[in-house]
Amino acid sequence: MALKYLLCVLLTYNMSLYCGSAAVHGHSIDNLERETDGSFRARDYEHYGDSGHNSEFDHEAILGSVREAEEFDKLSPDESKRRLGLLLPKMDLNGDEHIDRLELKKWILKSFINLSREEAQERLLEADEDHDGAVTWNEYLHDAFGVESEDEVGPEDTGDSGLILREEKAMWAAADANNDGKLELNEFQVFTNPEEHKEMHQFLINQTLREKDLNKDGSIDFNEYIGERGSQQDKVWLISEKDKFDNDLDLNKDGIIDLQEMHSWIIPDNEEIADEEVDHLFASADDDHDDLLSFEEILQHHDVFVGSEATDYGSDLMGEHFDDEL
Ligand SMILES: *[C@@H]1O[C@H](CO)[C@@H](O)[C@H](O)[C@H]1NC(C)=O
Ligand SMILES: *[C@@H]1O[C@H](CO)[C@@H](O)[C@H](O)[C@H]1NC(C)=O
Repeated sequence: MALKYLLCVLLTYNMSLYCGSAAVHGHSIDNLERETDGSFRARDYEHYGDSGHNSEFDHEAILGSVREAEEFDKLSPDESKRRLGLLLPKMDLNGDEHIDRLELKKWILKSFINLSREEAQERLLEADEDHDGAVTWNEYLHDAFGVESEDEVGPEDTGDSGLILREEKAMWAAADANNDGKLELNEFQVFTNPEEHKEMHQFLINQTLREKDLNKDGSIDFNEYIGERGSQQDKVWLISEKDKFDNDLDLNKDGIIDLQEMHSWIIPDNEEIADEEVDHLFASADDDHDDLLSFEEILQHHDVFVGSEATDYGSDLMGEHFDDEL
């Protein structure tokens, strides 16, 4: 049991960052939210990891809530199926008792919004010390850096002499839409998930330029892209990074990552992730290949869409899966 719990914690922690903890939540300093190259982690980060396909992501994409996805994992298969059945009419926008690709995509995109809201809600609860439903700048400083005021944030906290804090403050001000000096949930959501809000993207581009564009020409060449990471890596790593740079990032093949390419590199595209998820769910459940998911097909494959105690990933790891089959 203890091991199972530990595994769940580790998995959740790596995957979706919803763990309540004393971890630092600042943007620039929160490496958990970034890939090592500096890009933001996509929602489906670790959907297909070293350990194969990870069904938690599918369940969250359908339920729009990590909390609810975990709740489903404890339900009997019948109850889980029954509750999934209640969602289907809500997904079925034209009421034909089939879910088409567009209906599913719209649902998944809404789920992403709900997930992001849930995440902000949990962070807000942690940071909102006086429980007034909003986070002040000082409450944020306390939560992110463990200090009472700005003067106490030193270079050892941010790794620079004040630049990161000024950036954070500028982002804070941009997120504070009604300018009242504190962030209510809607505003806090913009601040905590800047990659999902257009008005924040320029900040993220500027940050990336500051961190990587050493010759200040407004674009990133391969050496700048590699940066300090190169020193601890071998040739195989370098070759794979060069391949990624040339083929995935430098879209127009001019040898540099320009501003537009920087945008598609560091900011995950939820539309694209939703499209991939639709493809994956159709491949898993569209048994008669009519490019529609009937309610029956979805319920038949309920364990792809939502979890239950029979499909709980943690139990599988613990071998209970095998016990069931004996
Ligand atoms: C998102 O949240 C709203 C409000 O709680 C809920 O009505 C809706 O069903 C959720 N949608 C998805 C796709 O999870
Ligand atoms: C980004 O950097 C440019 C050039 O330094 C600056 O003019 C602009 O105000 C910055 N934008 C934001 C949102 O910080």
